[in-house]
Amino acid sequence: MARIFSGMRPTGRLHLGHLVGALENWVRFQDSYETIFGIVDWHALTTGYSNTTDLQTHIRETAADWLAAGIDPQKSIIMLQSAVKEHAELHLLFSMITPTPWLIRNPTLKEQAKDLGLVDGSDDQEMTKMDYGHLGYPVLQSADILVYKADIVPVGEDQVPHIEICREIARRFNFLFGERGFRFPEPQHKLTQTPRLPGTDGNMKMSKSLNNCIYLADDPDTIQSQVKKMVTDPKKVRKNDPGRPEVCSVFTYHGVFNAQEVAEIEKTCRSGELGCVDCKKNLGEKIDRKLAPIRTRRNELTSEPQNLDKILLDGSDRARAIASSTLKQVRKAMNLG
Ligand code: TRP
Repeated sequence: MARIFSGMRPTGRLHLGHLVGALENWVRFQDSYETIFGIVDWHALTTGYSNTTDLQTHIRETAADWLAAGIDPQKSIIMLQSAVKEHAELHLLFSMITPTPWLIRNPTLKEQAKDLGLVDGSDDQEMTKMDYGHLGYPVLQSADILVYKADIVPVGEDQVPHIEICREIARRFNFLFGERGFRFPEPQHKLTQTPRLPGTDGNMKMSKSLNNCIYLADDPDTIQSQVKKMVTDPKKVRKNDPGRPEVCSVFTYHGVFNAQEVAEIEKTCRSGELGCVDCKKNLGEKIDRKLAPIRTRRNELTSEPQNLDKILLDGSDRARAIASSTLKQVRKAMNLG
């Protein structure tokens, strides 16, 4: 059975974008792959190190959201990165064999550098304000993946350059140290088919920093009020004006959460029979129908945090068994102890 690894940084509660963009796929993969999912808390430090007050809360929230969405500790290994030190050792060894231009040219890091103001003037001085650990983000990510010799890595589009670096590191390791039989696989990324869910403000992306999210933990009233705020076709001013579903994010959401009625909604929106208020109320109910069972499980899980911790610790023990056997082979291949 092919092995999957994927991870998320613990930055707080998860939202609908995480659910349809990642978690629902992960849940499905559990039945056809060997799955390992990591809460990558060291990665959260690459940009968030100056305030770690909420890190433990965020780790538990991430775990609760995963489990509530259907990630099953009987089927998957659910691990915490910092509890498996082999990730750090492999990251260190990989950092020795990774040419810095691979990192400096990485388009995802470059974009982050721009967004976070880490660029310093002229092009060739780009990212001089970036911390060493942040520059090595893809190297740590490669260690996360290769320490389990994963074959497939489900990720979003922005992560593809990182998975490419992972393959390059695997290839370079195999070239340098592979002659005694040990070889890393070259993992492939796997993109999700779901369209990216826009934020409730009409922004391309649902994101905590943009404050345009519906969270898995939101109660029915919050869901309704978030949906009420959503932007629709600006030309549909009055209830019976004809609307253009193709420019309406409420319609995009119906496609994802209300596939059954989507054809009818398209028709009655265009003809002007359906008003935005009713259309939104209907969507809020459909989203709530989807989130209600997740919310119930989540409440059960968060009411017993020691149980959550145990699931993470058990998963990390199982992960460590695999990771430590990889590291034994790696040390041997490199003539280390
Ligand atoms: N960089 C990923 C993200 O921001 C998180 C991540 C860390 C990851 N290590 C990983 C994803 C390994 C897949 C595999 O989404």
